[in-house]
Amino acid sequence: METDVVTGAFGFIGRYITRHLLNSGRQVRTITTHPDKPNPFGNAVKAFPYNFNKPDELIESLHGASTLYNTYYIRFEYGGATFKQAVENTITLFDCAKKAGIKKIVHISVTYASEKSNLPYFAGKGLQEKALIGSKLPYSIVRPTLVFGREDILVNNIAWLIRSFPLFPIFGSGQYEVQPIYVEDLAAIAAASANDSKSGTLDAIGPETFTFKEFLQLISSKLSPNTKLVHTPPLMSIFLGKIIGLAIGDIVLIKEELEGLMDGLLTSKQAPNGATRFSEWLEANKDIVGKAYTSELGRHYRWRSSS
Ligand SMILES: NC(=O)c1ccc[n+]([C@@H]2O[C@H](COP(=O)([O-])OP(=O)(O)OC[C@H]3O[C@@H](n4cnc5c(N)ncnc54)[C@H](OP(=O)(O)O)[C@@H]3O)[C@@H](O)[C@H]2O)c1
Repeated sequence: METDVVTGAFGFIGRYITRHLLNSGRQVRTITTHPDKPNPFGNAVKAFPYNFNKPDELIESLHGASTLYNTYYIRFEYGGATFKQAVENTITLFDCAKKAGIKKIVHISVTYASEKSNLPYFAGKGLQEKALIGSKLPYSIVRPTLVFGREDILVNNIAWLIRSFPLFPIFGSGQYEVQPIYVEDLAAIAAASANDSKSGTLDAIGPETFTFKEFLQLISSKLSPNTKLVHTPPLMSIFLGKIIGLAIGDIVLIKEELEGLMDGLLTSKQAPNGATRFSEWLEANKDIVGKAYTSELGRHYRWRSSS
């Protein structure tokens, strides 16, 4: 039985790629910042630390595997974690994968990743892609738009805010678009791309396109019809996000994320390749989505095995 390595199998997208691979009869190992986190796959998935500073150990954890599915990155700079370091760590990971004999890397990037972007998240993603292409290993770069699913943070927390407050801001005009992709569809696209004989880059896009205003109206209509959506200048939205963040001890909204959203970077010019409609998924999951807040800082920076 062939073995693959998935980084972040206890996180969001990595968890679904792992499940997809296990269901296809493959063995999976994971590399994670938190190998001691509760393992949803039990004995089926063994966890190893990222070990960016101990390349020999990182090589050992990759050794003998066929494909590396890489989800590693950071959402924003915080507590010493920087985009520059995340890119350097990714280069180390790709280098170790090559030395370990990995045959192909499937890398989860983002739509419009570009080293020339003035948004650090997208620029770092562009540098990750450049490093992978430069590694000369066979690769598939999969670039999702906005990803939704039960364990997601962004859509879930928008839903939580809509449920929790009488008002929710439409950032600016709200006329920029989103094309959300379901996480299981993304996992299937990523796994299928591992079988491509040629290296290449493809977007992962859901079948529905919404203006952001329509997206919020849909969430509000299903989860909290009395919440009023109010056009708010972007800077005011950032300010509100900071106040809520201070109150709940998390980073809710980043200025650069908002700029990326408003620049339409969570869309694609390619034809949709995911089948699951956000509107139908939301209807089926309306009793769960946004019921609890999911903290980004809690998930990545404050988690302790004793907590
Ligand atoms: N979620 C989306 O809507 C979306 C959209 C487009 C692109 N992407 C990309 O898809 C990939 C996976 O994202 P995801 O949503 O599945 O995130 P995730 O669950 O947070 O997974 C990210 C991976 O990076 C690791 N990581 C290490 N330090 C981190 C830090 N300081 N902050 C966050 N993660 C850290 C995580 O470690 P642990 O294993 O310890 O959790 C995990 O292995 C990322 O490259 C992301 O940029 C996501």
